[in-house]
Amino acid sequence: MRVFTHPNDESQYEEDSWGCPPKVVPNVVFKMRVFDSGQEGPNPYKWSHVSSMDLFANKTVVIFSLPGAFTPTCSTYQLPGFEENFNTFQLKGIDEIYCISVNDAFVMNAWAKAQNISNIKMIPDGSAEFTRAMNMEVQKDNLGFGARSWRYAAVVNNGWITHLFVERDKTENATEDPYEYTAPEYILEKL
Ligand code: BEZ
Repeated sequence: MRVFTHPNDESQYEEDSWGCPPKVVPNVVFKMRVFDSGQEGPNPYKWSHVSSMDLFANKTVVIFSLPGAFTPTCSTYQLPGFEENFNTFQLKGIDEIYCISVNDAFVMNAWAKAQNISNIKMIPDGSAEFTRAMNMEVQKDNLGFGARSWRYAAVVNNGWITHLFVERDKTENATEDPYEYTAPEYILEKL
């Protein structure tokens, strides 16, 4: 099943301003920092290169992508909302939830720590490779952010995008940051 949820017209997604997303998740390698018990010192982490195949093969995953770590809506509602609802997502057949942002691994890990996140896997897309291939890259130079992700979420089954939720009015240098269709509560209603 492939359900596209768009506020204006669910059947018109190909013509819409945010363009046509791929049917499978982009094949990229994410540069993560993972705990390394063999290291001493205040920062016992090492680089780990993790591919889309590693992350999406043989499981059903909800991904949500947002404009930036530590930003207010993301920190107050979206990330904690997914964290708190993880068990409910599992009851609906979701194995994992990934939070993706155009931020580097150090920032993503620091954000997860600050928010006490244990259920959500943080995915750094620092160079926006995944975001661009999803057709979700937007410029946020008006805020000094540079390239970032428009807010979207998806259900991905063994790499196939089966559901896609995109916030309205995807635009460059947006002055608004809509948050409705990518809220965990909304997605749960649709699953
Ligand atoms: C927010 O999550 O509130 C936010 C996102 C991007 C820019 C500014 C704020």
